[in-house]
Amino acid sequence: MDQEGAAVHRPEAMSETAGYSAVELMRDGRRVEIRALRPDDRAELLAAIGRTSTQSLFRRFFAAKRGFTDQEIEFFLHVDFINHVALFAVMEEDGRPAIVGGGRYIVLQPGKAEVAFAVIDRYQGQGIGTALMGQLAEIARAAGLRELIAEMLPENIPMLKVFEKSGLRLSTKREAQVVHVVLKLF
Ligand SMILES: CC(C)(COP(=O)(O)OP(=O)(O)OC[C@H]1O[C@@H](n2cnc3c(N)ncnc32)[C@H](O)[C@@H]1OP(=O)(O)O)[C@@H](O)C(=O)NCCC(=O)NCCS
Repeated sequence: MDQEGAAVHRPEAMSETAGYSAVELMRDGRRVEIRALRPDDRAELLAAIGRTSTQSLFRRFFAAKRGFTDQEIEFFLHVDFINHVALFAVMEEDGRPAIVGGGRYIVLQPGKAEVAFAVIDRYQGQGIGTALMGQLAEIARAAGLRELIAEMLPENIPMLKVFEKSGLRLSTKREAQVVHVVLKLF
């Protein structure tokens, strides 16, 4: 960490994060892998978006999203694991792995990144959001970040619960249609 609290950019930390993988147990006992996004995840990512409800997409993007442009998809996939870190939750479905959720952070300024999450509806409430949050927070802390921020809709109780269960110091500020969340990593 430098004097202004910026992340120390260690190339070895980037490649460690790019190869990240951990197995967690969901609430119903099934296994879910939390792993780093891979460059060849495009088709699986599109499939996961296609399985996510309009309401969940609205809560994630604050807009009625019916589809995404190629540019948006490239942005989701173009992750450098320093300023933009993305993890996917992967489940075995019919004998093959499927992306069922994801979480990412994007560094906005030295020491501070914005986090966002989405889990496809049929897998919500199984602890995947909590697992993604915990692992992203660990990666952010190891990268020397000080603070994670998020914006969420006021009615988004599951997201608030995930933030509360992270164990990080949390503060919230409500504005008209949005709640600003600040989580302290140190
Ligand atoms: C917010 C979100 C990522 C949480 O992921 P998740 O995997 O469901 O989270 P968890 O299973 O770890 O659950 C967190 C808490 O929310 C609760 N919860 C999850 N889904 C719920 C639902 N549909 N209704 C009520 N509570 C719910 C869980 O029971 C849990 O609380 P508990 O531990 O007290 O039981 C997920 O609900 C989602 O993708 N929502 C749509 C996108 C979104 O809102 N993104 C946030 C933008 S920053």
